[in-house]
Amino acid sequence: MTNLHDIARALVAPGKGILAADESFPTIAKRFASVGVESTEPSRRTYRTMLFGTPGIAEFISGVILFDETLRQSMPDGRPIPEALAAAGVLPGIKVDRGAKPLAGFEGEKVTEGLDGLRDRLEEYAGLGARFAKWRAVIAIGADRPSGFCIEANAHALARYAALCQEVGLVPIVEPEVLMDGDHDLDRCDAVTRATLQAVFAALFRHRVDYEGMLLKPNMVLPGKDHPKKAPVETVARRTVACLRACVPAAVPGIVFLSGGQSDEEATAHLDAMNRLGPHPWELSFSYGRALQQAALKTWAGDDGKIEAAQRAFHHRARMNSAARHGRYDVSMEKDAPAVG
Ligand code: 13P
Repeated sequence: MTNLHDIARALVAPGKGILAADESFPTIAKRFASVGVESTEPSRRTYRTMLFGTPGIAEFISGVILFDETLRQSMPDGRPIPEALAAAGVLPGIKVDRGAKPLAGFEGEKVTEGLDGLRDRLEEYAGLGARFAKWRAVIAIGADRPSGFCIEANAHALARYAALCQEVGLVPIVEPEVLMDGDHDLDRCDAVTRATLQAVFAALFRHRVDYEGMLLKPNMVLPGKDHPKKAPVETVARRTVACLRACVPAAVPGIVFLSGGQSDEEATAHLDAMNRLGPHPWELSFSYGRALQQAALKTWAGDDGKIEAAQRAFHHRARMNSAARHGRYDVSMEKDAPAVG
């Protein structure tokens, strides 16, 4: 499969979604520290190859986003990770941004770096077997944030990245994440997400990006983490779908949500509720990091005797999210969850 449209569609095939396992060195160190594991090259390899080697996972997982280091590592049997994933029917992808850095002159705001030399890096990644890529921009909500300039700067970088990806035959996942940090309400998240998505699609259009050969990875429309009231699942689903319908062209084959700090079960329930509101112009799927990995990470916690138990935990989470792709998830299905730890 080499055609951009085919790859994009395969990533959002019915019942399937993406595992985001592309944590940068500082992020994976933070996740490992939460379960008392030191982040080293071998510990990262053991943990990630454990996830990728989970029996039967290709039934639910269409693709995995890797970090540069991981794309170059091997499975325990010696096969390069991208080759082993492809052989299992899972598309290998690669995080290509170089992180969100402070935006000079705009306190508290960030712009994602990594455009310089990107064409050459993308060519190398394609040669190593990557079929798609990811670039994450972050938009923070605060008293007088985000600025229009921050949204524009990030939209421009996302569009330049996406155009370069398509040039070398990689499907770009375009990720403008409006963060959950703060005490703002759901209406504010909705307004900022709309402003962000409109700027991103305007930039993608100007940069001649082919919508049919890309995926969007957005946040859901939620109240901030510190807002006093949680929104009901049904409200989050309705408001997120309305926001996306207003901003995302129907030519985009799929929308793959990030979990962004939601609990595992919330992330699944929200996706399920959105799919129950369908049909939609695009596939609504997942590209979860934390919400797919948390249970497996806690179960493993650095103990290689727990690898099979951790794989069962990951398999369960992937299966739940696969059910949510069809709008067939029910919280009663969680009773099959393996005990964590
Ligand atoms: P979370 O689902 O943990 O937000 O991670 C997804 C991701 O890839 C963020 O860039």
